[in-house]
Amino acid sequence: MPKRILVTSALPYANGPIHLGHLAGAYLPADLYTRFQRLKGSDIIHICGSDEHGVPITIAAEREGVTPQEIVDRYHEANKKVFERFGISFDYYGRTSSETHKKTSQDFFLKLHEQGVFSKKSQEQLYDEQAGMFLPDRYVKGTCPHCGHPEAYGDQCEKCGTSLSPTDLIDPVSAITGNKPVIKTTEHWFIPLGDFQQRLEKWIDSKQDWKANVLGQCKSWLDGGLGDRAVTRDLTWGVPVPLPEAEGKVLYVWFDAPIGYISATKEWAEEKGNPDEWKTWWQDDDTSLVHFIGKDNIVFHCIMFPAMLMQHGDFVVPDNVPANEFLNLEGRKLSTSKGWAVWLHEYLDLFDADLLRYVLGTTLPETKDSDFSWKDFQNRINSELADIIGNFVFRTLSFTERFFDGSVPKLSNPTETDLAALAEIGQQKKKIEDAYNAFRFREAIAETMNLARIGNRYFTETEPWKSRKENPEACGNTLYVCIQISAALSVLFQPVLPGKMSTLRSQLGIPDTLLWDDVSNNLIPTGQLVKQGEILFEKIEDETVEEEVQKLKDRAGSADTTTKQYEPLKKQTDFGQFAGIDLRAGIITKAEKMKKSKKLIKVEVDLGFEKRTILSGIAEFFRAEEVVGRSVVVVANLAPKKMMGIESNGMILMGEDTDGNLHFVETDAEPGSTVV
Ligand code: MF3
Ligand code: ZN
Repeated sequence: MPKRILVTSALPYANGPIHLGHLAGAYLPADLYTRFQRLKGSDIIHICGSDEHGVPITIAAEREGVTPQEIVDRYHEANKKVFERFGISFDYYGRTSSETHKKTSQDFFLKLHEQGVFSKKSQEQLYDEQAGMFLPDRYVKGTCPHCGHPEAYGDQCEKCGTSLSPTDLIDPVSAITGNKPVIKTTEHWFIPLGDFQQRLEKWIDSKQDWKANVLGQCKSWLDGGLGDRAVTRDLTWGVPVPLPEAEGKVLYVWFDAPIGYISATKEWAEEKGNPDEWKTWWQDDDTSLVHFIGKDNIVFHCIMFPAMLMQHGDFVVPDNVPANEFLNLEGRKLSTSKGWAVWLHEYLDLFDADLLRYVLGTTLPETKDSDFSWKDFQNRINSELADIIGNFVFRTLSFTERFFDGSVPKLSNPTETDLAALAEIGQQKKKIEDAYNAFRFREAIAETMNLARIGNRYFTETEPWKSRKENPEACGNTLYVCIQISAALSVLFQPVLPGKMSTLRSQLGIPDTLLWDDVSNNLIPTGQLVKQGEILFEKIEDETVEEEVQKLKDRAGSADTTTKQYEPLKKQTDFGQFAGIDLRAGIITKAEKMKKSKKLIKVEVDLGFEKRTILSGIAEFFRAEEVVGRSVVVVANLAPKKMMGIESNGMILMGEDTDGNLHFVETDAEPGSTVV
């Protein structure tokens, strides 16, 4: 019996609207997977909801001068609605301010407390005397001790990515009053993650099928050694710590939020009128729990929450965590504070949801960061959706309507070409299915489009406009085959294009209830009536996308108009000098930050024929765990150089932009290939 599948996608903070980065990271892949599995007839639910606690919420409230409750009420409703408009088919969209969640997370905490897991420790913390409160996480800003960035937050430096404690910051100031904080002692409950190290290591080791980017991060956290992590905070907004001596303290948001998946499942079951059903989903070993998240959430879903679940004992642990990397926008890092973002509600006021589902689906940052651009949006709609599948279905249906009165012709004496085209349906279906099951959504979508491409080519090659007069039987065969391919597409493309494929099915006169395995060589019988109906995909004009780019630039304001300072060109060199440099493709297999250096990361690079140790000056821009798995170009014949007692054997090529940020130079060539 296949397992039942419990899909969750990261609970987005209810502190702002949803943008394309959110969709590409978690929600679209989760929805593609869920819709595919539903079509396969799997027992599956997709659970999500609003994360309504934590400093991100209270800071948003303070910025706007309203209460945190007002913020979460506003964005919970807005986000729930916009996901629906985009066709994200959650089975339940909960919120962590609910009573069920309060009780569930407090009970969870109490059980671990009774098991004696937590240690209670005094801790020195920054305190804002004017505001009369402690300053956890993002409530403090200051200079990053690693890279010198002057606007690092108390929990993380966004420039170099290092995770920080508020007391690490140089010259900290309160984010509320701008005052210099004082140090005050407070008490907190800590989960000793170190005690889970071995169990987690063994568990992660058994997950060889997980994505490389996820395993890389897990390994690097584990190699760094796990320590104690506070699970409480001195704040008034959040789930109160359910202990009499913990007055004025709440659960750390990363303790309560993942429990939100459980609370939301409880509410879903209750709403269904089967209140105990949540237990089968969370407590039965036949459940496969799959978390869809972005890469910044990996440590919480692969280390912290699993440790909590293991300790609690009543629950299943995740079966897979297919985390995605980040989506950039027009070649730049997405930034909501700088206005460099495309908001989903604004998109949906102008365009159809399915268009974005397709374009984002084909550019998901599955193995590395990827880029969304409006030009690419236009190209993919015009030259793929409109020119390939749109054109194929249109010519098939209009031809049938005009020359066969809309009635599906019969297949008689098919040629080898006809049979080969029909056979492609089953072959493509299998490829698409395998890709979905392996969380390779880009591939699944590409293979689906390939079936339309095959159909289009077949239509052109068999020339029904000629055979119509010369050989009506052959012409009928062509249309029969094309209609079967169209029908197959209307199901196989359904996870990506639910709205458009529903329209297509009504044109073909087939029910919306068809399942994946109903797809066959003869989904529509001879004699059935089909109609051409509306054009599925209209082309997008240049001006339309140019306007969108302009909107972005206007919003991002002056940041974009400052003139860039390009590095002057070096003096001319001859080819011989260039050819003497041996450049090779490689893959980073290990990475470790050099403790005493601000800049250096020690990496191991697989060059195919050997592995090299290289010290690379990238620590201010990348965390060690995120570079594992990156493809790189290495200067492979550079004389070795000793730095900090370690011999570095080569150099990794990096692009440096005008802001001084480093970017990897990547190649798809396999390790060891020469770069010429
Ligand atoms: N709110 C978090 C974020 O947006 C994600 C929370 S996921 C959960 O990054 F597991 F904690 F729910
Ligand atoms: Zn930094």
